[in-house]
Amino acid sequence: MERILPENQSVFSKEAADFCKSKLSDRPYTCYIETYGCQMNVRDSEILYGLFRECGYGIAASKEEAARILFNTCCIRDHAEKRVFGNLGQLRALKDTNPDLIIGVCGCMMQQEQVAKRVMQRFPFVNLVFGTHVQRHLPEMLAAVLRGERVTAISSEEISVVEGLPSLIPEGVSSFVNINYGCNNYCTYCIVPFVRGPERSRRMEDILSEVKKLVSLGKTEITLLGQNVNSYGLDLGNCDFSDLLRETSKIEGLKRLRFMTSHPKDLTDKLIETMANTDKVCHHVHLPMQSGSNEILKRMNRKYTREKYLSIVEKLRAAMPDVELTTDIIVGFPGETEEDFQETMSIVSQVGYATAFTFKYSPREGTAAAKMHDQINESVKSDRLARLNALQMQRTLENNEKYIGHEGTVLVEGIDEKTGALYGKYQNFKMVYFDGTPDQVGQYVRVRAERVRGNSLGGIQLKEEI
Ligand code: 5AD
Ligand code: SF4
Repeated sequence: MERILPENQSVFSKEAADFCKSKLSDRPYTCYIETYGCQMNVRDSEILYGLFRECGYGIAASKEEAARILFNTCCIRDHAEKRVFGNLGQLRALKDTNPDLIIGVCGCMMQQEQVAKRVMQRFPFVNLVFGTHVQRHLPEMLAAVLRGERVTAISSEEISVVEGLPSLIPEGVSSFVNINYGCNNYCTYCIVPFVRGPERSRRMEDILSEVKKLVSLGKTEITLLGQNVNSYGLDLGNCDFSDLLRETSKIEGLKRLRFMTSHPKDLTDKLIETMANTDKVCHHVHLPMQSGSNEILKRMNRKYTREKYLSIVEKLRAAMPDVELTTDIIVGFPGETEEDFQETMSIVSQVGYATAFTFKYSPREGTAAAKMHDQINESVKSDRLARLNALQMQRTLENNEKYIGHEGTVLVEGIDEKTGALYGKYQNFKMVYFDGTPDQVGQYVRVRAERVRGNSLGGIQLKEEI
């Protein structure tokens, strides 16, 4: 495991980490983090692995082998919470065979106090629960558990941006870099602002220096991450997301720059122009639409209309004819009528997304929409979701047709287990499968798309120099 060493040792407790190390016996101790939810959580888990490493632990290949297990949880929908509860129950057997096992639960779900309490009550074998804001205190929390305590740590106070935490750098040439944390938007269905706190941007120089380090370690594709990357810098007052893209793209050795997620209300003309005119910035925008109905968008507190959304799509396409769009859509939001739903269907038809992530509305305790009285019943939600998915699948296939004969550069991401083919993406996010050799994973190659392969494309590798 490579690490970016902490520049500032005081960002976590060295004493507590040393105490944890002193408790290790001769055998190698390892940890395992099971991560649920979005890329933010994946990135948090990399930092938690870094902190475990400071405490003397290696990485286990599976839960069964690990001496420390951490569940990094998600609470965006009910389904995510149910999975965590189910999988936690299964750890009881492991704890029975290994009483030394330490089990922790952290992340968004645990930032909700009543849920954390429920976990502690229902699973007496859990040693530790902690929320999203205190993860840098993992060494102290582990030390307390090793002293025999059961720890609950949920604080909403420590929300300042902390730089220089140790981190696992995953293998491969792609990495994720946080640019802002939290969210101020309070979409009425969404729990994120409650569990991730208000929006805080990292300083541009800190982001740039992290990207430079990653590039020096061989990364060539960086994805900038935030709940709403488009509002980056508004709280700092001296820069914006376009400035960040421009500065990051100047880093030598970096080949591809991606970002997500974009809130349509903050996607400015300046950003479109920057995307179109800045080298390395990939022509892909993940632009959650959520609903095509103005009435529902208003009730969701999304702060844009269907017309505004469509005008952004038009501008993006005018500036970058090869741009691909992906989106998130919720069906069955309280009060959604069949007509509202048809408005969503018509946007999906009109835009032609490369992919859409579609969800049934799931009430989240504490959010405004959960209290709305005109909740939609499950069978209506399921029926709408099925119709929406069928339409999107048809549009994906149609969209794929236009790539036949297309030649472009692909970053090889991996080898398909079933067929042995290589796969990777064109710069605009379109996935293509083709024949090649295993040593090409992580490299950039030229590929001509020749056929539609379900959601993605099939092609052949061209022997062109890049
Ligand atoms: N129910 C269903 N989907 C939700 N999302 C966020 N909150 C909810 C909810 N309560 C979806 C939105 C968001 C994506 C990450 O998850 O579409 O963009
Ligand atoms: Fe949730 Fe809306 Fe914030 Fe996205 S912008 S994280 S959907 S509140």
